[in-house]
Amino acid sequence: MTFKSQLFLILASLMLILFYFHYSSSVSPSSQPFLTPVPSITSQVDPLYDISSLANINEVRTLHYHLALKVDFESQIFSGVNTLTLSSLIPNLTEVHLDVRNLSILEIYDDNHNKIPFRIEDNPFGDESIGDQLRILLLQTPQLFSPFNIHISYKTSPTATALNWLTPEQTSSKTQPYLFSQCESIHCRTVAPLQDTPAIKSTYSANITVPRNITVFMSANQTNQYESPESENVTFEFRCDIPIPSYLLAIVAGNVTQQQIGPRTFVITEPNDLPAFSKELEDLETYLITLETYITPYQWGYYKIVILPPSFPYGGMENPLLTFASPSIIAGDKSGVFVAIHEIGHSWTGNWVTCQNWENFWLNEGFTVFLERKACLRLFGWNYYAIYSIVGNNTLTDDMKTYGYNDSYSSLHPALQGQNPDDAFSDVPYEKGFQFLVYLQSLVGEAGFEDFLRAYVTRFAKQSPVYEEMAEFFTGFIKDNLANASSILEKVDWNTWIWQPGPPPVDMSVFFKNTVLGDAETLAQDFITGQGDVIPDNKEIYGTFDMNLKLLFWQYFVDRVDNVSVKLLDLMDSLYGMNNNTNYEVAFAWWKLNVMVDNQKVFNLVDIFLGKTGRMKFVRPLYVALNAKHHDLAVQIFSKYEAFYHPIAVRLIKQDLNIQ
Ligand code: BES
Ligand code: ZN
Repeated sequence: MTFKSQLFLILASLMLILFYFHYSSSVSPSSQPFLTPVPSITSQVDPLYDISSLANINEVRTLHYHLALKVDFESQIFSGVNTLTLSSLIPNLTEVHLDVRNLSILEIYDDNHNKIPFRIEDNPFGDESIGDQLRILLLQTPQLFSPFNIHISYKTSPTATALNWLTPEQTSSKTQPYLFSQCESIHCRTVAPLQDTPAIKSTYSANITVPRNITVFMSANQTNQYESPESENVTFEFRCDIPIPSYLLAIVAGNVTQQQIGPRTFVITEPNDLPAFSKELEDLETYLITLETYITPYQWGYYKIVILPPSFPYGGMENPLLTFASPSIIAGDKSGVFVAIHEIGHSWTGNWVTCQNWENFWLNEGFTVFLERKACLRLFGWNYYAIYSIVGNNTLTDDMKTYGYNDSYSSLHPALQGQNPDDAFSDVPYEKGFQFLVYLQSLVGEAGFEDFLRAYVTRFAKQSPVYEEMAEFFTGFIKDNLANASSILEKVDWNTWIWQPGPPPVDMSVFFKNTVLGDAETLAQDFITGQGDVIPDNKEIYGTFDMNLKLLFWQYFVDRVDNVSVKLLDLMDSLYGMNNNTNYEVAFAWWKLNVMVDNQKVFNLVDIFLGKTGRMKFVRPLYVALNAKHHDLAVQIFSKYEAFYHPIAVRLIKQDLNIQ
């Protein structure tokens, strides 16, 4: 161990002891609803670890940053100053290292406008995976733990991967240009020089200047708005007073407006879409209440959701105070609202308790899927819950097969050294993580597990644990609260669950028994047996299936694709109007099946679908399926829509299609 790290350990232990005493004296024991084990000091002083960041986070930490930026829609550039308030964690700090990618750093200076020297060091992995390191060579050593500022004047690049710039024609109202960000996982470094890691949480504030007809929202509260008389511009001011990791920084700017739809809930979108979207999302307050009744009170004040233009590459993104969502979640019958429930769930697991690094991503997503499904169970009943979980298990299996059952990406602890975390993104952390928690719940009992989850989000509030800390906490919690602790704990095979790639070590199907899947499978089998010549007697029960059961119905054909003919597809289209289906999830399942069967008659409709949404969950598997049969056609369709898709999606689809 180097002298530096020894010193770090000693200092960190000291801080922790102080911190611990501060807390144990300020929280009266009676206010704690359950026993929480005292964590051992050793796990506490482990340095923070994030292989996807080049910032020196164990030497210096961000307390706050302030962005003063001008947004130029013409050149697609942000320019301005990022003022970071930092605190050194070691006695003789000489350098601050920040994450940057495609940024032009113009000048760095201290509070007295003394220029601070800097240089940009190429990423040590020698590739484009995680961007570069901005090394700032401090003029003097800051005092240990006392805040100091550095000001960085910089510009973003039009190719910043976090930013999607849309022309007026690409928006719903066609009047103004539009911009939105997507920082998770490591795209924030293309927006601002920062410690771009989920290990570090800080508050932030921002002054964003845009043309007068543009409205801005951020993952923060708006504190002011002013027009400067001599210019055509307007400035919006924001503050986020709860410390958050950089990946939750978010901005949307365009012809957008908000409507309050519940005591704490708002919908934000372009004005012409606002009434319909608000109607679809009218129950947001109920979802909030369902989740906070299950866990702990919602801590963030308001909950606002932005329905973005269709190029948004995800279903939803949990930016605090400003969830982002794809318009594809608006199905007209509320069947897409589970995405909003999921993003609300992140208010506890993800935004309040955050994974320390992207190798522990399942702490965000697995836990949030667990909360989401718990809310769905309470709101929509057991069959909904079970069928949704089986859909999840199917996508889990598909994704693990794509990576390979022996690939670390098929485990809950993907190896990310030298990798872009986007490449490891799949349903594995979501569904295997969810299944692990369902398994733990089965050992502990529902009430006990609910208590554990409450204790967990309380214990790690505003922190960024790794799974080992969660495991240690779980173990302590069980020991302190359950008589049969040892018989429970000896069953849990942490190593296999977390590190072993491939299917989980436990048969999970027993947890998702239900009374409806059989009907769907029987109907599907009747269709296959009839080969397109026979219409099954009970064909109309398809209309009674909920969305997820429909997905399982179509999955049945995907699993037996060699027995599916174009004739059979034609029959089912004529019975169920499938070629005119407007539900994105169901349409996607249908188009995927048609591409796999090579039903070329509908390829023009598949083409239209691929141009209507940029949500990767839908377009990537469709391109992959099309590419397997007709590479040139897949490339041709992609080229047509490339300018419409988000930069993150473009990169990944190019990989899928094997083009550069
Ligand atoms: N945080 C994710 C989206 C994300 C993950 C963006 C990693 C970038 C990198 C979000 O909460 C999410 O999981 N969205 C899902 C919702 C679904 C699980 C209900 C999606 O977009 O499909
Ligand atoms: Zn999520």
